[in-house]
Amino acid sequence: MTGSALTGVGLGLRWEFLDEVLDLLDRGEALPVPFFELSPENYMRRGGYFPAALERVRERCALLTHGLTMSVGGVDPLDAGYLRDLGRFLGRLDPPFHSDHLCFSGVDGRFLHDLLPLPLTSAAAAHAAARIREAEDRLGRPMAIENITYYLAPGRAALDEADFLVEVLERAGCGLLLDVNNLYVNGRNHGVDPAALLEKIPPGRVVAMHVAGHEWRDDAGLLIDTHGAPVIAPVLDLLARAVARTGPVPVVLERDNDVPPLEALLTERAEVEAAYRRGLAAREAAA
Ligand SMILES: [Fe+2]
Repeated sequence: MTGSALTGVGLGLRWEFLDEVLDLLDRGEALPVPFFELSPENYMRRGGYFPAALERVRERCALLTHGLTMSVGGVDPLDAGYLRDLGRFLGRLDPPFHSDHLCFSGVDGRFLHDLLPLPLTSAAAAHAAARIREAEDRLGRPMAIENITYYLAPGRAALDEADFLVEVLERAGCGLLLDVNNLYVNGRNHGVDPAALLEKIPPGRVVAMHVAGHEWRDDAGLLIDTHGAPVIAPVLDLLARAVARTGPVPVVLERDNDVPPLEALLTERAEVEAAYRRGLAAREAAA
């Protein structure tokens, strides 16, 4: 497990505002974030505009990488071609670690384009942990695993979500990309205090965090992790609590639906940064 020297609040780099970032670079202006996080799937195995644009951003800004398709909890073998190409892509960017989701995304060779939950059992934790270690070996790079949202736990749960996460982290020896919004959404949907889940997370394992917006859906009777709305105040409060425990790890504001112009996103980023600083101040006050 490896942390990084990156701190502060960055943004998930999205195609919707990539041109605005390039305009800032053209004008020689400083980028208004300490780093961007990008998904390799949006840039690797393709030529043309987007990889060239990323190359320009890379020259001026630190980058974190966050994969979408590794399926670390799946039962099909890890995709050797994907890992080979991902390893080459990461070799050029040289991020301090690479993250992906604690989930499965396919079965019997069919990719389902979704982040599906694993059974909350020790056997599933051991299975995922072995594959995380295998991915680290093949990539030659430390990995961090992200806690996902789930709306239904498959099978009979033997562990709660936090204990399951901890078991994966300990068995794999990897870092945690702690998605604070996901922790909040799961806690609320499944009747567990999100702060109590957070208390179980070993802070030394957390190498980065995510925050995002979610929405209440009357038809489902659930909070849905849409990444299509501003981050709500209770999630910012949970972020501050998390930062008070971990210290200054990089935090990423994610937005994937109804992506506003960069300026609006930067206004929201400032609110996330205020919560981040509250957390650091609380940590200092407690020291
Ligand atoms: Fe996330």
